[in-house]
Amino acid sequence: MTTLKQPGPTQSTLTVLGLETSCDETAASVVRRSADGRVEVLSSIVGTQFEQHAPFGGVVPEIAARAHVEAIDGVVAQAMRAAGLGFADLDGVAATAGPGLVGGVMVGLAFGKAVALARDLPLVAVNHLEGHAVSARLGAEIAYPFLLLLVSGGLCQLLEVAGVGACTRLGTTIDDAAGEAFDKIAKSLGLPYPGGPALEKLATSGDPTQFDLPRALLGRKDCDFSFSGLKTAAARLAEKVTNDTERADLAAAVQFAIARQLSERTDRAMKLYAASHPGQALRFVVAGGVAANGAVKAALRKNCDDNGFSFDAPPLVYCTDNAAMIALAGAERLAAGISDDLDAVARPRWPLDEAAALSHPSNNFGRKGAKA
Ligand code: KG4
Repeated sequence: MTTLKQPGPTQSTLTVLGLETSCDETAASVVRRSADGRVEVLSSIVGTQFEQHAPFGGVVPEIAARAHVEAIDGVVAQAMRAAGLGFADLDGVAATAGPGLVGGVMVGLAFGKAVALARDLPLVAVNHLEGHAVSARLGAEIAYPFLLLLVSGGLCQLLEVAGVGACTRLGTTIDDAAGEAFDKIAKSLGLPYPGGPALEKLATSGDPTQFDLPRALLGRKDCDFSFSGLKTAAARLAEKVTNDTERADLAAAVQFAIARQLSERTDRAMKLYAASHPGQALRFVVAGGVAANGAVKAALRKNCDDNGFSFDAPPLVYCTDNAAMIALAGAERLAAGISDDLDAVARPRWPLDEAAALSHPSNNFGRKGAKA
């Protein structure tokens, strides 16, 4: 089999093209990482497919895969133009290889392989979650290790991140992700997809004390999450809501309940993390689409104040899916001398901490193994 170029000397500046196609965004970005770890985003283009999926109230995998095929050439060309670079200026290509909707993942990974082969560049097959894990480093210099809350449409996990590719899971959702709860409850309130931002907007005029919603896993000693009870309770209440004031009150109560659970579990994780890192700087990072929510961020900031952690969240544009985080994860791997070959496969399921996922089969475990 043809093999791809291996990473060069690890102590040099690296300019990497990143590709992200794991869900409903076709994204490309060029990121430059200097030898001392400084990061510069030279371009970041995100093409959304909202309009294609909106009539169905959620992402349709087949439509997403086709839309990625149609968009990827143009999005990559735009990213290269905006960076003011040619392919000869690149030191590597990084493409999301999972977890995600596999049709879309295959499009980006195949494109990355083609660029690597044609331009004799090393390829990095990036775990999308590792992209989210490093995303806060796009906006600030955050040293390892740190405690990470990864909270998006498909994920809700607390992880200890010791370095690139070195994550230990402290907790995960046993049913739905927080973003999924936002989206589904928003839908039952008649709000458009994606529901999180719409629900946040509606909640601004609501009173969260007007509805009493269930508080899941209260008193549990672990750091796991559960949102399905809240989702069912809120959907039932949404059916009975009769006017705009009540709708806003219910939205505010839902947002409060989700923020409270994220905050309660994070508090527990912070105490565990602090106990296992005596005398060390305590850093907390929140990443993923739900990190864009103001109430969630405020609750987590309070956790940091209470427990002596620093707080960081990626700039808003890097909270949701983007390719800059994939390019940076790729650059960090290349800097560590790690790359992949043409036999890298697209993976619908790919936990960051495989050992934890396998030892905890109730968590996000599907027919083909743990998702994330
Ligand atoms: O990270 P992301 O773009 O995609 C993945 O799921 O990988 O996250 C999207 C999720 C959606 O569930 C969306 O509703 C949620 O993040 N989200 C928000 C907000 N902005 C995005 N949830 C609550 N409040 C927001 N402002």
